[in-house]
Amino acid sequence: MWRELLLILFLAIILRIGTPQDSTTQNSTTSNGNVTTDTTDNATTENRTEPPPNPRCLQPTDRKEGFFPDFYIKPVLMDIFTYMRRILPLGATPKKNVACILPRLKWNKQYEFVALSKAMKCPTPDTGPHKLFYNQTENYGEFIYFGTPNSTEAFVSNDSDWTADIDAMSKSEWESTTKKYRKGAWDPGFQIIWSNTTSVGCALVQYNNSDLADLSRIFKTNVSGPMILNTLVCLFSPIGCVEGEIPFVCKPIPTVGPLPPFISPRTLYPPTVKPFSSAKKLGVDKGFNFGTLSIAYILIRNLPPILRLQS
Ligand SMILES: *[C@@H]1O[C@H](CO)[C@@H](O)[C@H](O)[C@H]1NC(C)=O
Ligand SMILES: *[C@@H]1O[C@H](CO)[C@@H](O)[C@H](O)[C@H]1NC(C)=O
Ligand SMILES: *[C@@H]1O[C@H](CO)[C@@H](O)[C@H](O)[C@H]1NC(C)=O
Ligand SMILES: *[C@@H]1O[C@H](CO)[C@@H](O)[C@H](O)[C@H]1NC(C)=O
Ligand SMILES: *[C@@H]1O[C@H](CO)[C@@H](O)[C@H](O)[C@H]1NC(C)=O
Ligand SMILES: *[C@@H]1O[C@H](CO)[C@@H](O)[C@H](O)[C@H]1NC(C)=O
Ligand SMILES: *[C@@H]1O[C@H](CO)[C@@H](O)[C@H](O)[C@H]1NC(C)=O
Ligand SMILES: *[C@@H]1O[C@H](CO)[C@@H](O)[C@H](O)[C@H]1NC(C)=O
Ligand SMILES: *[C@@H]1O[C@H](CO)[C@@H](O)[C@H](O)[C@H]1NC(C)=O
Ligand SMILES: *[C@@H]1O[C@H](CO)[C@@H](O)[C@H](O)[C@H]1NC(C)=O
Repeated sequence: MWRELLLILFLAIILRIGTPQDSTTQNSTTSNGNVTTDTTDNATTENRTEPPPNPRCLQPTDRKEGFFPDFYIKPVLMDIFTYMRRILPLGATPKKNVACILPRLKWNKQYEFVALSKAMKCPTPDTGPHKLFYNQTENYGEFIYFGTPNSTEAFVSNDSDWTADIDAMSKSEWESTTKKYRKGAWDPGFQIIWSNTTSVGCALVQYNNSDLADLSRIFKTNVSGPMILNTLVCLFSPIGCVEGEIPFVCKPIPTVGPLPPFISPRTLYPPTVKPFSSAKKLGVDKGFNFGTLSIAYILIRNLPPILRLQS
């Protein structure tokens, strides 16, 4: 019986706290104690309406826990970034007994939060959809990718997409860029493998764009209905891709012994539809956890939904 009473009391307190102090016009006291009557903002005092919804960014939703039916954005990205930092600096023809020791990036919750607030605004950079946009803001090296949910999922989980701009470099471009950085189409890849960069945080947001003129402009075609879109934002710090700097240093390390076998990025995922189907091949490379992720992914996929949330 008194449990219900407590509940009512509790609700009453919540409701009281939740009630605004007074919705009618109030005189405000200035710093020197003068009382003034507020007459300036008629619109806001007489008619407190919500700001009109932005038709380009309806119901933006955090997709942290729902990428594919049962897929988590953070481990997928962290594994790809770790893989890239480990393999790419060695170059197309890695030398024996040479190592480029790049520490793993750390996931930063605060950057994730800042990325989320940016993604919640549904940015659509001029580079267009289905392309990774790289920007350097005051504090971060920033990625923005937006597109349909399918294209975004395919992009995020496909390591070849992440390495494509570096794979496309010519030998001479690679050699000069790794000695003295020069900005180029390879910026996103180099941001990931930038030695001084230590932390990253990303967010994925899904939203509805119902502004057909905007959509037609973005997709350069006549879009006739609202579209559900996804936006990925990643923030890296300290900022990489600094012109004239050395991205990373590779050193001979004869004492370490043989390096793990080199796996070309191209063979990491066979070009099949199923992601992570190459777990066995990856198991060769012991220190690296793509294989572990694949197993975790398969396990998680087969759990009932309630268990899945807890894992
Ligand atoms: C607001 O100020 C006016 C003029 O000084 C005064 O007549 C009125 O009573 C004040 N209202 C309140 C709620 O203090
Ligand atoms: C406050 O009131 C005093 C006396 O009425 C007046 O001289 C002064 O200018 C007022 N200050 C402001 C900020 O309105
Ligand atoms: C308040 O309303 C009056 C009359 O409707 C108008 O003349 C005045 O510009 C409005 N003030 C503001 C700040 O909107
Ligand atoms: C307040 O909003 C209602 C509906 O949104 C509108 O009909 C009315 O004209 C508005 N009043 C003023 C003073 O703007
Ligand atoms: C890129 O970064 C600059 C700040 O360095 C900022 O003013 C600009 O809005 C950013 N561009 C996008 C598309 O976010
Ligand atoms: C997205 O993928 C799903 C499942 O793979 C498919 O059913 C759907 O048609 C795809 N949508 C588009 C727009 O390609
Ligand atoms: C992965 O990305 C590469 C390079 O962009 C592309 O050629 C390949 O078709 C993609 N694979 C899948 C499964 O989407
Ligand atoms: C997207 O927004 C438009 C306009 O509000 C609405 O008509 C449409 O049903 C929405 N679509 C989805 C899938 O939410
Ligand atoms: C765009 O598509 C709509 C509906 O399909 C059609 O009515 C309109 O004529 C098209 N406009 C252009 C410029 O193709
Ligand atoms: C890395 O950081 C150190 C110390 O902050 C700085 O001296 C160096 O120039 C940076 N290197 C690159 C490549 O950014």
